[in-house]
Order: sequence, then C-alpha cells, then structure tokens
Amino acid sequence: MTATDIRTAAIARALFAARFGADAVGTWSAPGRVNLIGEHTDYNDGFVLPFAIQHRTHVALAPRTDGRIRVVSTFDEGSVEVALDELDALFPDRRDEVPEWARYPLGVAWALLAASGTDPSTVTGVDLAFASDVPVGAGLSSSAAIEGATAVALADTWDIDPDRVALAKVGRRAENEAVGAPTGIMDQMAALLGRADAAIFLDCRSLEAQVIDLGFAGAGLELVVIDTGVKHSHATGGYGERRAACERGAAALGVPALRDVSVDDLPRLAELVDDVTFRRVRHVVTENQRVLDTVRTLRAQGPTAIGDLLVASHASMRDDFEISVPELDTAVEAALAAGAVGARMTGGGFGGAAIALVAHDQVQAVTDAATTAFEAAGFAAPTIFTVSPSVGAARD
Ligand code: GLA
Repeated sequence: MTATDIRTAAIARALFAARFGADAVGTWSAPGRVNLIGEHTDYNDGFVLPFAIQHRTHVALAPRTDGRIRVVSTFDEGSVEVALDELDALFPDRRDEVPEWARYPLGVAWALLAASGTDPSTVTGVDLAFASDVPVGAGLSSSAAIEGATAVALADTWDIDPDRVALAKVGRRAENEAVGAPTGIMDQMAALLGRADAAIFLDCRSLEAQVIDLGFAGAGLELVVIDTGVKHSHATGGYGERRAACERGAAALGVPALRDVSVDDLPRLAELVDDVTFRRVRHVVTENQRVLDTVRTLRAQGPTAIGDLLVASHASMRDDFEISVPELDTAVEAALAAGAVGARMTGGGFGGAAIALVAHDQVQAVTDAATTAFEAAGFAAPTIFTVSPSVGAARD
C-alpha cells in the first residue's frame, strides 16, 4: 500500500470507530480509473482501453448480527440503514428514498445477493464506512471505486466467490438500477481488473480482457490529469441521450449494436438517419477503430506513437459526439501546444477531466500552460496531477 492508501484506510477505520463505536475487522479498496481511449463504446458492445489509477476508495467493515446493512462515509454526514431482506423492495422502484451516495454500496449489496442467488437471511449483516481519495465528479470513476470496494468486501465477508467479471456486472447493475445511471461496464472492469503498469483492453461484448503493457515509464512519459472542476452526472441528461442515439443508429442499420458497424458502413447510414444521429454513430464506429489501432500501435511502437490517436479521439468527441465542454477543449489545446504527445478528454464527458501524455521533463510546462490558459479564459483553476496504472480491487 502507498502512504496515501495507508492514510485513507486509516480514515475509513477511524470513521467506522467514531460512528459505530467498535472496530472494523478489515478494510478493502478499489481504484478509480482513467480511460486511455475508447469513449462511449462500452454500451455499444465495443472496445475500451482503461487503466486503474493509484487513487482508491477504502471501506472498513464489520459484521453485525441482525441482518441489516448500515453505511456511512466521509462524503456525507448521514448514515443509512436497511434490512438486507428489504433491499429487493427498495431497488429499483423506491431508490429515491435513499440518498444518492448510499445507493452505490446498497445497490451493490442488493445486486450481489441477487447475482449469487443468496438468500439475504443466510448472510450476516454488515456495517460499512467509506473514505476515498478518488476525486468525485472528475470523470475518474469514483463511483466504480465505491462499487468495486463494496463488492470485494461483501463477497469476502459473505463467503461467496464470484469471479471478477461477475463482480463488475454487479457494480454495473447497481449503477444502472439502484443509482439510475445508464452507464456501461468499462469503469467496473477497470476497478476490478487493474494491473500495475498496464491497461485493460476490453471487448465489451464478450467481456474478454487482455492486459496491455503501457511502458510509460520506460518511454520517459507521464500521464497527466487535468481536472477541470466542471461537475457532471450521468444519471441525468446528456449521457442517456447519447446512448439512445446510438441505439437508434443500430436499429436503423438492423444490427444488435454499433459494434457490428464498420467505417465502411457509414455512407449507407448517412441515408437512413438524421445528421445528429449519423454523427453520434460515426464517433462510436471510428472510436472503436481507434482503440484497435491504439493497441496495435502500443504493441508495435510503444506509447510515444499513440498521440495522434488520442487527439483524433478528442476531436471526434468534441465535434461528432458533442460531449466536450470549453474547459476540456482548453485543457487539451493547452497541453498539446506545450508539447504533450497527445491529449483528450476522458470519461463520459460534460465536465470532468482531460488526460495528456507528456514527456517527463515537460510535465511542468504542460501544467503551467493549462493553468495559464484557464486563467486567460476566465475558468476556475484546474487541478493537475499525474496518475500511474495500478492494481484493482483487493483486501488491503
Ligand atoms: C462513463 C460510464 C462508462 C462509459 C464512459 C464513456 O464513465 O460509466 O460506462 O460509458 O462514461 O466512455
């Protein structure tokens, strides 16, 4: 564990002791993620290339004897308590009765019991206390970090042994049905399967995952995150609309998902759908190709050669998928002007963070350039830091 992990796990334990008046039996944790490339392709059965980052959410846990689950966190003053056998009545229909942050862990408990066919009366109740150093709303998937940490903690405690893909599906179900955000499975897979120094090349149809060496350090590169501070939520608005447009496009072409559409099919689609739907589809289809090209380029030439693919991905999200915001465009442009190898927004969009692949000795120049560009544009100062590919969810 890093020094930050030790500190955050200690905060979770201290919160547990302060709020529940007893000691936790252990802590578990899961990371946030950065997506290197492959945006809005996951729910189209396509390809993604995320990696887990060193920022993690820790949960302290102890069993209780009355079949109830109680959650507290550093995100919120309140505590939420429900009988395990009431979760089924709560989700999805009555989810509004629970504060939004608590829907993540409670939703995971609900989905894990269902996925494993476990009768709630046969498992122990639990108290859970969360602390996190994954920035919230930054597009770094703080939500999948909570889900992943909860999933491994409960699976251990309840002695059920689903594989990692099953746990990722549990997290996605919690997010889709307990929280109400119509997201794909990329973030949960990254949080559960992450490896040091590597990205996860995921086929979101088969859920087959390959570990791809990134070799950033060997190439003298750093991955810089520029968090714009613009908050977003995928439970409302734009994200769901984009997903609906993709489904319209697939229906017009008579295929199950846009994964089944190639760049060569695009001229035919142009005659079948309106311009907006066409551009949404073009983003997904070309982005899928860019993920494949990135994996091939990483293997053949190493990370220094993927810059143009990152830049093309950003342009496609800005112009075709229309999920960027001025702050993200400014971050990308400033990073490139200051010598970044490549840069793009990462995550679902409408706010959050951009990433830039930068030579080690240019990190300061990129940081200064982004800060100055934000100031000149009248935007609030961004938060800028480097991330490294890290391990997935585990007991601490
Ligand atoms: C969010 C979702 C993911 C994925 C990305 C966009 O992070 O949770 O499932 O769709 O947006 O690539």
